[in-house]
Amino acid sequence: MAGIYLHIPFCKSKCAYCDFYSVATVKNKEQFVTAICKEIELRKDYLFPDSVQTIYFGGGTPSMLDLQEIDKILNALNKNFTIEEQNEITLEANPDDLKESYLKGLKSLGINRLSIGVQSFIPDDLLLMRRSHTAEQALKSVQTAQDQGFENISVDLIYGLPNLSMQSWKQNIEKVIALNIQHISAYHLTIEPKTLFFKYYQNGKINLPSENESLDQFKKLKELTAKNGFVHYEISNFAKDGSISFHNTNYWMDVKYLGLGPSAHSYNLTSREWNISDIRAYMDGIFQGKLVKETENLSKNEKYNDFVITSLRTMWGLNTEKLKKKFGEKYLSDFIKKSKKYIDQNLMKQDRQNYFLSEKGIFISDHIMQNFLIV
Ligand SMILES: C[S@@+](CC[C@H](N)C(=O)[O-])C[C@H]1O[C@@H](n2cnc3c(N)ncnc32)[C@H](O)[C@@H]1O
Ligand code: SF4
Repeated sequence: MAGIYLHIPFCKSKCAYCDFYSVATVKNKEQFVTAICKEIELRKDYLFPDSVQTIYFGGGTPSMLDLQEIDKILNALNKNFTIEEQNEITLEANPDDLKESYLKGLKSLGINRLSIGVQSFIPDDLLLMRRSHTAEQALKSVQTAQDQGFENISVDLIYGLPNLSMQSWKQNIEKVIALNIQHISAYHLTIEPKTLFFKYYQNGKINLPSENESLDQFKKLKELTAKNGFVHYEISNFAKDGSISFHNTNYWMDVKYLGLGPSAHSYNLTSREWNISDIRAYMDGIFQGKLVKETENLSKNEKYNDFVITSLRTMWGLNTEKLKKKFGEKYLSDFIKKSKKYIDQNLMKQDRQNYFLSEKGIFISDHIMQNFLIV
């Protein structure tokens, strides 16, 4: 069992908070599709002998691809990999791209999961974030997708936004829940260098919520989603009726994945690779038959660090039996020793052999995980 991620690096314009690799022009789109299909051929052995259970079109904005382009990519994948019949094929989409005929086409191509970037239903927030859609378009896109028979829809929201009041945040969550979708990804805003928000922040143009306000927003999110049948299965992810994202779960379960397209990361259990974050250099390389990428062989410490980070992110937590079996007694005692202080501070919880972050701990997860790492 393995996963394939395709990075589609096009956006209509750059959002104020986002530092994912993308370009705000489609002038190379056709050539890019040819290049990624060529990369699929070049990397057809990467996952061998595993079959592919999940495919994820991420970005950037995959919904800027035409139906014919998606079809071409899926055909190339089918030709070069064994795709399981019971599969999950996700496409990240911006609301303004999701017209009825496009959705119908996606469905017939076999896309069976949509991840729609709503972010907020508050017009002022959408403007501040420089989103390319309105709140009405966001609502309509979800409803049209449902009308077209999509039964596995995820919506992205962002909280911790400048001036986001508890009242507005509550309304955003309630609106998403009322849409009767299966999955919510809710991210706390991070101010990334090189973004417009970073500039605004440095110039004092935006006020960010205090840590306590952010924690209250997170608690509200947990409370309302739980009340409405969502399971909080990973730091930022909530699923109803068992609709967890299998693709993302694979990342946390130590299975192989192949990342195609500029900036995409791959993992084959022993090493990590990442393609260059530059569409021109990526395509030039591919057309000369070589991949412009870097590779890092993973040491035991690095594998252990990945194991701790990915396990603690999920509701299944970290199982110490598994840790001992994979890494041995020395790593186990280091983990147990370090976790004691977090358990005492109510930042972590222990249930027999399983260790989890508490609600308070989830909120400062980066800081906690940092302390577990062995360098
Ligand atoms: C890389 S985007 C791609 C999806 C699609 N292009 C869109 O805009 O909806 C995936 C999600 O990451 C989240 N995201 C990106 N940058 C973020 C940031 N700095 N802080 C919090 N969430 C962020 C947004 O919720 C976004 O929908
Ligand atoms: S959030 Fe989505 S649309 Fe906005 S810049 Fe990032 S990838 Fe592009």
